[in-house]
Amino acid sequence: MIVKVNTGAVCGLEGKIVIAEADFSNGLPAFDVVGLPDATVREAKERVRAAVKNSGFEFPAKRAVINLAPADLKKEGTQFDLPIAIAVLAGTGQIKAELDEYIFIGELGLSGELRGVSGVLSLVSCAAECGFKKAVVPMENVEEATLSGNIEILGATCLSEVYSHLIGEKEIEPSVCDIEKLFSDASKYDIDFSDVRGQSALRRGCELCVSGGHNLLLIGTPGSGKSMIAQRIPTILPDMSLEEAIEVTKIYSVAGELESGVNLIAKRPFRTPHHSASAVSIVGGGSKARPGEISLAHNGVLFLDEFPEYRKDVIESMRQPLEDKKITVTRAAASYTYPCNAMLVVALNPCKCGYYGDPSGRCRCSETEVRRYLGKISGPMLDRIDIHLEASPVKYADLKAMRGESSAEIKKRVNKAREIQKERYKNEAISCNAQLSGALIEKYCPIGEEESQMLKNAFDSLGLTARAYSRILKVARTIADCDGRENINTMDIAEAIGYRSLDRKYFR
Ligand SMILES: Nc1ncnc2c1ncn2[C@@H]1O[C@H](COP(=O)(O)OP(=O)(O)OP(=O)(O)O)[C@@H](O)[C@H]1O
Ligand SMILES: [Mg+2]
Ligand SMILES: [Zn+2]
Repeated sequence: MIVKVNTGAVCGLEGKIVIAEADFSNGLPAFDVVGLPDATVREAKERVRAAVKNSGFEFPAKRAVINLAPADLKKEGTQFDLPIAIAVLAGTGQIKAELDEYIFIGELGLSGELRGVSGVLSLVSCAAECGFKKAVVPMENVEEATLSGNIEILGATCLSEVYSHLIGEKEIEPSVCDIEKLFSDASKYDIDFSDVRGQSALRRGCELCVSGGHNLLLIGTPGSGKSMIAQRIPTILPDMSLEEAIEVTKIYSVAGELESGVNLIAKRPFRTPHHSASAVSIVGGGSKARPGEISLAHNGVLFLDEFPEYRKDVIESMRQPLEDKKITVTRAAASYTYPCNAMLVVALNPCKCGYYGDPSGRCRCSETEVRRYLGKISGPMLDRIDIHLEASPVKYADLKAMRGESSAEIKKRVNKAREIQKERYKNEAISCNAQLSGALIEKYCPIGEEESQMLKNAFDSLGLTARAYSRILKVARTIADCDGRENINTMDIAEAIGYRSLDRKYFR
């Protein structure tokens, strides 16, 4: 007799339905799993054999073949244990139940306990779309699974529990989840911009970046608060929508990055890959296709600290994906696309020792050394960063002063500025000023005679590079938007020029 049990495989961020077909025939006892299983799936049979026996069921002394169909789809992960076990029990007549409306997902321990797996949200969402009525998942993944909606989620802790449910002995109650509540509970940050004392110029610069969707470069001596400020940028980005949160949760789930107890990522991600990280871990891919740091930062912030220390090839590999807001990882069998729409924040010291330009005069680096250090930054990458902010240590008096404005206050203004841009660009393929390019800059950032003259003077006297020109216009556009003005004036241009410190000081 052939039985069919439904389960799923993860392909990129999407789930695909997989059917575990079991056939038992007389012959030498054997147990084979076919259908492009990878090593973890091939090992499933050992776990299943032990789990079945140790749960008090009979493992057949027959020739058993489990085929995971479609056979041309590579099967990875441990979620196939449970469906294979169910196929064994059904194929040997130990379970007599209608299984068509179910999908089964879960890893089995040797004693039959069900363990959580990665990618559950993607798998269950796919099952719901394909019209399955019920999903049996490990208890650990229940909350995550309920985020998919439109399918009953049955959480179980062990194989016997699933068995009892299927034979009608003790039915498992479907789990329900108050998504709105989960979302609002999980979306609170425990850090706030008001923690940053003083530093009004830095605060203003950050607000502009977030308002116009600009990437940010922070340069300053050690202890000037670069990391502290960067960590707080997610708190002033517009609130995440539930759809965005679910998208991010899928990425984390597939990457196996969901922390235990956290089932919905409702806060904007903040990722800080170390400068020694490999290109694969940053952009994704590898032998086990999985999202990299830039995708884990999707809808949030990718923070590259000590920017000049990153390897050139690593920086190079993330440049295009960050521009396209997606990365396609190609493997022998298939290619997967992961989103990576993240705000880029980079931080660096002005020189190797860190104290170049510090009033204390500590820095002993020569001009050449400073240039060589900063010269390690890739020009094309710098082209993607509109705003440079110089951080100097907070003044003692400021540290003692009142707390600054809260993230919530700042966010209100950010939202307003974003609304203006959304409305302005509704007929374009962009949504914020940072995405303006070429002809769109001319169309949406017109400047008058006076502003034009000012820019020309700045180019001549400060020696600005050509790459600075369009950046200044875009940032000036954002400054005007934050002020609720349609026209860009000289003040806006002057302020925007001030945000090109690397061009002015270091890269001439
Ligand atoms: N404006 C500020 N308000 C309150 N605390 C601050 C401020 N700036 C810095 N600090 C304090 O100083 C500490 C060091 O700051 P932070 O680590 O952000 O500096 P950094 O610029 O990233 O230094 P490094 O170059 O060494 O990485 C912070 O943890 C914070 O406690
Ligand atoms: Mg730091
Ligand atoms: Zn130095």
